[in-house]
Amino acid sequence: MSAEGYLNTARFALANPRRGLVMVRKVLTRVTDPRAYREHRESLAWLASEAQDPATVAQSIAPELWNEALEFGAGLRERAVPILERIGQDMGGGGDYEFLYWLTRLRRPEVVVETGVAAGWTSQAFLAALARNGVGRLYSSDFPLFRNQNPETAIGCLVEPALRANWELCSDGDAINLPLILARVSHVDLVHYDSDKSYSGRDFAVRLLRPSLAPDGLIVMDDLHNNSWFHDDISRASGPYTILGEGGRYGVLGELRSDGNGPRAGELGSEFCQDRQVGVELDAIKSTDSERE
Ligand SMILES: C[S@@+](CC[C@H](N)C(=O)[O-])C[C@H]1O[C@@H](n2cnc3c(N)ncnc32)[C@H](O)[C@@H]1O
Repeated sequence: MSAEGYLNTARFALANPRRGLVMVRKVLTRVTDPRAYREHRESLAWLASEAQDPATVAQSIAPELWNEALEFGAGLRERAVPILERIGQDMGGGGDYEFLYWLTRLRRPEVVVETGVAAGWTSQAFLAALARNGVGRLYSSDFPLFRNQNPETAIGCLVEPALRANWELCSDGDAINLPLILARVSHVDLVHYDSDKSYSGRDFAVRLLRPSLAPDGLIVMDDLHNNSWFHDDISRASGPYTILGEGGRYGVLGELRSDGNGPRAGELGSEFCQDRQVGVELDAIKSTDSERE
C-alpha cells in the first residue's frame, strides 16, 4: 500500500471507531485463519474442471434475456467511463454484471441481497433488472474502501439516481449489515457474495443467510479461487451447483435451471440503514451524472 493509502486508512479508522473494529477483525482474520486466503490445489483443479462459460449457459436457458443482458452491459460500460474518471480512485473490478442482470431477469427475485458494492457494477445490474421486472428490491452490504480518500462518497457511484429508491445500502461491514438486512425481509431469493473473500467471511455470511433462503433461492459467489470454501461447501452439503467463468471464478449454489416461483406476496421494508448518508453524499456525484445524461 502507498503512503497515502496508509494515511487514508488511519484517518478512516480514527474518524469511524466502530468501523475501526471491523478493520482490526479483518487483519486478525488474515493472521489467525490459516484457510483465509490460502489457495488449495485440489479445489483449484476441481473448479477449473467444472467451469462452464456463462454466456453459453445463459444462452442455452434464455437466449433473448442474454441478448438483453449484453445490451445492458454495453450501456453500463459506456456510462461508467466518465463517472470513474471523475471519481479518480481505484475502485477495483466489478462482478459479472451481465450474468447477474440475466439471472435477475430470469428468476424475477423479490429479495436480492448482495455483499460488496464498491463502484456498484453489480448493484446497477440488479437494480436495472429488478426495475425491468417491475418487482423486487435490492439490499446491499458494503464496507468503504478505506485506502481511498473519502471512500464513502464513491460507494455505488455507478448506480443511476433513478434506481436508488429501490435500494437499501448498508456500509458497516457484513457482520453488522447482514443481521440488519435479514431482520427486514421475510426471505431471500438471490444472494450475490462479493465482499470479504476470506474463508471465514464466506462461512459467516452463508451460515447467516442460508436459513432465510427461499427453497428455490440461489447464492452466487465470486472469486472462488481465493480458497477452498466453495469446494468444501459442496462436499459438505452436496446440493446442486454451477461453476462459471474462466478457471471457475464464480459459482452458483442452488438449481440454476429451475424457473423459480416468480414474485411472492409479502411486505418489503422502507429505508432502515443508518448509512443513508452515504446515499446523500452520492447524490452530489450522481446529480452531476444525471445532468450529463
Ligand atoms: C470486489 S468489491 C465489490 C465489487 C462490486 N460487486 C461490483 O461489481 O462493483 C468488494 C467490496 O467489498 C467490500 N468489503 C470488504 N470486506 C467487507 C466486509 N467485511 N463487509 C462488507 N463489505 C466488505 C470492499 O470494501 C469492496 O467495496
